[in-house]
Amino acid sequence: MRLVVFGAGYVGLVSGTGLSDLGHDVLVFDIDPEKIAKLSDGRVPIYEPGLADLIHRNQRSGRLQFRSAIPEPFDAADAYFIAVGTPPGADGAADLSAVMAAADTIAKVASKQAIVVVKSTVPVGTCDAVQARLASAKVPLEVVSNPEFLKEGDAVNDFFKPDRVVVGARSEEARQMLRDLYAPLQLSGERLVVTDPRSSELIKYASNTMLAVRISFMNEMSRLCHATGADIHSVRLGVGTDSRIGKKFLYAGPGYGGSCFPKDVQALSALGREHGIPMRIAEAAHGANEEQARFLGQLVEAALGGVMGKKIALWGLAFKPETDDIRESPAVKLTKGLLEKGATVSCHDPEAGANFAKLFGAGVTVKERDYDALDGAHALVLLTEWRSYRAPNFAEMERRLVPTDAGGAPVLVDARNIWRPSDVIRAGLRYQGIGVAASRLADRPSQR
Ligand SMILES: NC(=O)c1ccc[n+]([C@@H]2O[C@H](COP(=O)([O-])OP(=O)(O)OC[C@H]3O[C@@H](n4cnc5c(N)ncnc54)[C@H](O)[C@@H]3O)[C@@H](O)[C@H]2O)c1
Repeated sequence: MRLVVFGAGYVGLVSGTGLSDLGHDVLVFDIDPEKIAKLSDGRVPIYEPGLADLIHRNQRSGRLQFRSAIPEPFDAADAYFIAVGTPPGADGAADLSAVMAAADTIAKVASKQAIVVVKSTVPVGTCDAVQARLASAKVPLEVVSNPEFLKEGDAVNDFFKPDRVVVGARSEEARQMLRDLYAPLQLSGERLVVTDPRSSELIKYASNTMLAVRISFMNEMSRLCHATGADIHSVRLGVGTDSRIGKKFLYAGPGYGGSCFPKDVQALSALGREHGIPMRIAEAAHGANEEQARFLGQLVEAALGGVMGKKIALWGLAFKPETDDIRESPAVKLTKGLLEKGATVSCHDPEAGANFAKLFGAGVTVKERDYDALDGAHALVLLTEWRSYRAPNFAEMERRLVPTDAGGAPVLVDARNIWRPSDVIRAGLRYQGIGVAASRLADRPSQR
């Protein structure tokens, strides 16, 4: 098939490249000429494992191209995929201006009957609104909902081996076309959920909010652990071994981030408000997430007896490992709070350092090498559980960090609970996890 993908972001790039790898002729269209120039030149503007190789292979084959216009023969595409951003507006509702702009372009360009596949995460009723927007097209176009569920950091794998594909279409022809398109992924019937566009649109928000609720619930439990002396690891194990609940998405941490959960939870709340159905669970998940970010800041402050004039090192700036995406990342929130309170911040991330430096400018120091971020800092906060941070040299950390003025040993705030407190304490450092008791060295003077 001949396909056009709107948006060369995380979703559009992965889906467009994946579709070309399945043998389709794909043009990825973006309004950002700089992005298109880079991609045409073989430079990939985002970090996503396996993506660059896949792009290069399909570019070489001639099946994948990047453009800021839609030339012939792509005016006669079989399908147009909309994978543009839907960021939150002032009231939390999704901003659909990019989706509608894409629809306008399709209406102008399309010269052959086709389907328009909405992959962007959009509120219920958007596909119908896009359908109305396409009324001026010269040819029949049917809008189909096909929300994207890929996870950044594992997106290529998710494209080729999705848990499920959700398709919301009104006509049998459009449904069949999507079935044919995804058939090479060998989806057995039960992993292809075929429904109407409105249900399909809601499935996406319901899925993300359900996951966000689990995280926020466990984060609340972690705060209760601090207050009561319970241990979040035991609570998680005890809860997650119930087969009705399951083990996934039960890890306490610094709060969820990224370009999806925060915005989708708020967009669902906004959708509920619009229809007079309060989304109390979504609202609570959002509130608990904001609270967790504040709580992390308080933990750091408490561990250091205030952060004014202190230097804090951060490991992990991306909202999760294996991505360079820092949108709504816990590191961004924590850094803003620390800077406001008079601390200095020195940090490292295997892939997201450049994006972080761009966001904060001279306000923070971003180091190329992980341990260099620790030099002269009073605390290290681990925010993203990259593999390379999992088995660190605690003695090296102890050499690089410095005690507080009051003589307290430097502290490691392990916001992902990945380190063994005993290893940290043995190195002469203090340990502070999330939902676990602070190390007994908390008030002991430094060994130095
Ligand atoms: N990032 C994820 O992990 C993920 C996962 C599932 C779903 N989604 C959803 O997919 C959508 C896209 O997300 P993303 O993270 O890829 O966004 P992104 O911000 O990385 O990329 C969006 C791209 O769209 C381009 N664009 C904007 N207007 C355009 C137009 N009129 N025509 C063509 N291109 C245009 C932008 O220049 C940008 O390159 C969002 O609705 C998001 O909620 C994202």
